[in-house]
Amino acid sequence: MFARRIVVVGTGYVGLTTGACLASLGHRVVCSDVNATKIEQLNSGEVGIHEPGLAELVQEGIAAGRLKFAVGSADAVAEAEVVFLCVPTPMGSGGAADLAAVESVVREVREVLPRGCVLVTKSTVPVGTAARLSELVGRPDVAAVSNPEFLREGSAVRDFLNPDRIVVGSDTQDAAERVAALYARLGAPTVLTDAASAEMVKYAANCFLATKLSYVNAIAELCERLGADIADVTEGMGYDRRIGQSFLQPGPGWGGSCLPKDTAALLQVAEAVSFDFPMLRATISANSHQRMRMVAKVREACGGSLDGVRLGVLGLTFKAGTDDLRDSPALEVARLLAEEGADLIAYDPGLRGDEPGLPASLTLVDDPYLAAKESAALVVLTEWQEFRALDWGRVAGVLTGPVVVDTRNHLDPDVLRRAGLSWRGVGRTP
Ligand code: UGA
Repeated sequence: MFARRIVVVGTGYVGLTTGACLASLGHRVVCSDVNATKIEQLNSGEVGIHEPGLAELVQEGIAAGRLKFAVGSADAVAEAEVVFLCVPTPMGSGGAADLAAVESVVREVREVLPRGCVLVTKSTVPVGTAARLSELVGRPDVAAVSNPEFLREGSAVRDFLNPDRIVVGSDTQDAAERVAALYARLGAPTVLTDAASAEMVKYAANCFLATKLSYVNAIAELCERLGADIADVTEGMGYDRRIGQSFLQPGPGWGGSCLPKDTAALLQVAEAVSFDFPMLRATISANSHQRMRMVAKVREACGGSLDGVRLGVLGLTFKAGTDDLRDSPALEVARLLAEEGADLIAYDPGLRGDEPGLPASLTLVDDPYLAAKESAALVVLTEWQEFRALDWGRVAGVLTGPVVVDTRNHLDPDVLRRAGLSWRGVGRTP
């Protein structure tokens, strides 16, 4: 394999994972960021992001001399063959992706990019962005390529090194092939296409995943009304290879920094070209409905009102294995419970100490049994593995009521029953 000189702009979880993993494949990588303190920490091998295996990979890359960090992009790109843009594209006005950070980097580097350099977008960007960046660069020798990432938080390193596929799109075929070659060692199926199609793959995939989950959550509600069991129903569906067993777990709704942003952005893009997309609108509104439905379950478990009721909460992050509260359905359900007057005592293994943005009537504790203590009910909102291993007899001893509302169907109802607790899940009757 031919080692390339690569610069990755942005050291968030996508950028840092991309940089460290490309270095582990043998490339020479410089990761740049505007935050000097972060770069100083990274240079000494300190990784502030909670991502399994990432710190080790960063340290290995530094020790091997293949991974370096730099403040600002202009100097870093001076010798680059490929520049990856991994800066944030948050939800802007009306749901559209805000490209200010991407464009500002391009303006900063466009005159100093070496001849023949390839500019790659990894951030999720609207269809047409590569073409727009090409214009912004204004140099025929610099090609723009879209190479979307499909990393999940909490398993980003594993996903990068064992990808289901690599997607690379450019209107300059040769540039797309050069970017695809960076991943040759991974031996993954590779889709080489035009820039717009590569950009579309990312939105189409994330919106499909969101739709799959909204569908499962709706089927779960129907199961409750018809006396069916969602666990058996999804197992039976999943053996169909066209459906697959994964991404079929009902819950309090989907969230995180990607699916809500990407569904809103694709809807906005569709509206901009006068395309009515009722299916995607339904996917999004079903997700809001799901949160309200979880609140109704808790209210009902507490006898019809939450006013002044003390509730124990297990899990606030948007999924297990992260410390990320962005667009967390768990946090949103907690907020709605607080709005109805509940006092919340919450425990989350990923959160420590003061977290900004929590409801005023929520107290974060560092012990699950403290969350349960003197609470009228316990509400499981995130599927941390350790919750399954709690001493449920001890939990039953400190709760004032017998109900556990498990919005993730994460616990074993039999274990809870034996502890004298009443389990209420989603889409199944115990
Ligand atoms: C998601 C996609 O899965 C990645 O492929 C994509 O690269 C990434 O967005 C991105 O665009 O960067 P991520 O946001 O890390 O990854 O989270 P997921 O693991 O997909 O979970 C999303 C939400 O769906 C979470 O709230 C999770 O709890 C929920 N979920 C997931 C369920 O409720 N049930 C399931 O069966 C699976």
